[in-house]
Amino acid sequence: MMPFFIRPMSKGDIPYVHSLALDSLDEYYSDEIFTLFLEQWPGGQYVACRYDGTVVGFICGSNLGPDRIGIALFAVNRSSRGKGIGSKLLATLRQSGTLRGALTIQLEVRTENESALDFYKKRGFVTAEILHSYYRNNGDAIRMLGLCSVNS
Ligand SMILES: CC(C)(COP(=O)(O)OP(=O)(O)OC[C@H]1O[C@@H](n2cnc3c(N)ncnc32)[C@H](O)[C@@H]1OP(=O)(O)O)[C@@H](O)C(=O)NCCC(=O)NCCS
Repeated sequence: MMPFFIRPMSKGDIPYVHSLALDSLDEYYSDEIFTLFLEQWPGGQYVACRYDGTVVGFICGSNLGPDRIGIALFAVNRSSRGKGIGSKLLATLRQSGTLRGALTIQLEVRTENESALDFYKKRGFVTAEILHSYYRNNGDAIRMLGLCSVNS
């Protein structure tokens, strides 16, 4: 197993997180969005690092009200997937949500992103609704809901 650790994201991580997002996500996001997430909820943004400091994954949480948080952006470097990093990032965000008093965690995922759908279902998320033309290319999304407080 590849050794890695999770730590809060800081401004200095943004160039690395941005390039990871450009490589892993199929929508374009400007680097400014990460500054906005850090300002909105500093305790809800995390990176996964190898012990040499390389950022290999990140998760950006969002505040969706007093009892709900969201997963806004989430990716692990292609060559580092399948090693438990995404699970650990998700568990860390869930824990942050619980500490903030949230009960529910919400996310949207492309209907075609079967590996991510599978990943979330195995971690207790259920489909809440289908959002038609949710993405900029008119692609549909599945909105999923899970509990913040789980043993994961
Ligand atoms: C979704 C994602 C963040 C998960 O990260 P990860 O580090 O691969 O997550 P984990 O290693 O904890 O778990 C991945 C699961 O896929 C399996 N897997 C095995 N090899 C894999 C590989 N090469 N790539 C992806 N998953 C693999 C793992 O065994 C694990 O299975 P499990 O659900 O039965 O435990 C990552 O796949 C990713 O960045 N995907 C592209 C971006 C994306 O879809 N983001 C989410 C949008 S909502």
